[in-house]
Amino acid sequence: MLEARRKWSWAFAAALLSLVVVWRAESAIGVNWGSVSFHRLKPSAVVDLMKDNKISKVKLFDADPDSLRALMGSGIQVMVGIPNEMLAALSSSTDASDLWVRQNVSRYMVKNGADIRYIAVGNEPFLTSYSGQFQSYVMPTLLNLQQSLAKVNLAGYVKLVVPCNADAYESSLPSQGAFRPELTQIMTQVVSFLYSNGSPFVVNIYPFLSLYGSSDFPQDYAFFEGTSHPVTDGSNVYSNAFDGNFDTLVAALSKLGYGQMPIIIGEVGWPTDGAINANLTAARVFNQGLINHVLSNRGTPLRPGAPPVDIYIFSLLDERAKSTLPGNFERHWGIFSFDGQAKYPLNLGLGSTGLKNARNIEYLPSRWCVAKPSGDLSDVANHMKLACSVADCTTLTYGGSCNGIGARGNISYAFNSYYQLQMQNERSCDFDGLGMVTFQDPSVGECRFLVGVTDTTSRPRSRYSTSSSSCYQLNRRWIIVWMLISWGAWGFVM
Ligand SMILES: *[C@@H]1O[C@H](CO)[C@@H](O)[C@H](O)[C@H]1NC(C)=O
Ligand SMILES: *[C@@H]1O[C@H](CO)[C@@H](O)[C@H](O)[C@H]1NC(C)=O
Ligand SMILES: *[C@@H]1O[C@H](CO)[C@@H](O)[C@H](O)[C@H]1NC(C)=O
Repeated sequence: MLEARRKWSWAFAAALLSLVVVWRAESAIGVNWGSVSFHRLKPSAVVDLMKDNKISKVKLFDADPDSLRALMGSGIQVMVGIPNEMLAALSSSTDASDLWVRQNVSRYMVKNGADIRYIAVGNEPFLTSYSGQFQSYVMPTLLNLQQSLAKVNLAGYVKLVVPCNADAYESSLPSQGAFRPELTQIMTQVVSFLYSNGSPFVVNIYPFLSLYGSSDFPQDYAFFEGTSHPVTDGSNVYSNAFDGNFDTLVAALSKLGYGQMPIIIGEVGWPTDGAINANLTAARVFNQGLINHVLSNRGTPLRPGAPPVDIYIFSLLDERAKSTLPGNFERHWGIFSFDGQAKYPLNLGLGSTGLKNARNIEYLPSRWCVAKPSGDLSDVANHMKLACSVADCTTLTYGGSCNGIGARGNISYAFNSYYQLQMQNERSCDFDGLGMVTFQDPSVGECRFLVGVTDTTSRPRSRYSTSSSSCYQLNRRWIIVWMLISWGAWGFVM
């Protein structure tokens, strides 16, 4: 009896302790793992990379079976995505949603399986540039999936979320934040559904895009190091775009009556190449500033002491087959390059200082394709155009890491990108006799001539190449909002 009581009080103490731990839980840092890449690393290598870096949360853009199988037994918590294109089918049939859940969730949730915690229903389905085409599918899909999850007893464990772009809300000042008028009704339904199921609100926030989209955006306001252009909102002062954006969402949620809604940042990050503000230093300063800020638990003026529940850095790896429609930077969001090498020092705050590189990467042989030194390069334009239309040449552009390597350098870079993409097929370095294979690394300074990796999976799946790019289809509206904010702030200065 005494024994039992002692046991009970231990259990009670443990429960209390865990309660305290949960209560004081800090935000976790996760990553987005997209796979629109020419040289895809083996999923198991990517999972090892995450484990080596103590990354315990990952967000996927679809339910790729290879990725999910690799995640089984890893202990990493997973958010699987449903591409917007699938919403129509899932919204119209419970059979379809049952099947989706069986095939893409419950199948993996076995002993030593994948720990799927969230299903992202669509990716930024309310994005302005989609003109509402996915809007009507979201609620029916949520309802169908919730039923399907309940049928397999996962409704409490796996939460449905709807990642939104920050263009879903707007305001000239954070405290005035409101969802776009045409979204008020659907947002009220979605948020009320999420709230009643204990799901968080997921939002993607990109200060880089505000800076990229507007030359008037105060550069230092995009970072976390203090700014000469703070935004004053009543008694609250904002010194960085991230907090201002976050609180605009908090205000918008409050307006719907859900001011306490937990918020997860589904995507946030900074690219390293392909645009003037996209470079290693800026990416390091932004991401480190962000992580430190979030882990400090300071929160924001509207949510003091309550930072986002989790943030998912965009992105784990470069995806060099993505559409460049948003800009040439689009292929360079990784904290690791396409082959899993850390691009810059970063402390993720997860207990391992610095980033650890991917192990056991199987590269193609160390050889490159370059322009022959003697070749007459006057007729090369078409070759270069063709090479760059399939392979990646975004580093060559203005602001890119290879922009200063000269005309012949440009050609060599293009030849090599194409050659590696063709898995170093000898014929792919011909270019009418203008190309040649070399065993000497032609890289110059920060301009890296890549060597491909043995691609175990097939071609990139360009079908979903909008994975995050959607967030970019630059919502000019949002930029204008932030311009207004900064102008408002400048009003005081001038
Ligand atoms: C499961 O997810 C994959 C990847 O998103 C998709 O191709 C497939 O159609 C899904 N299965 C079902 C039954 O919808
Ligand atoms: C990198 O980007 C930062 C931030 O936008 C900018 O201030 C800096 O000049 C850039 N550095 C280089 C070397 O281009
Ligand atoms: C190399 O190519 C880039 C991108 O097309 C271009 O901006 C640059 O001017 C080229 N350099 C030379 C020397 O032609």
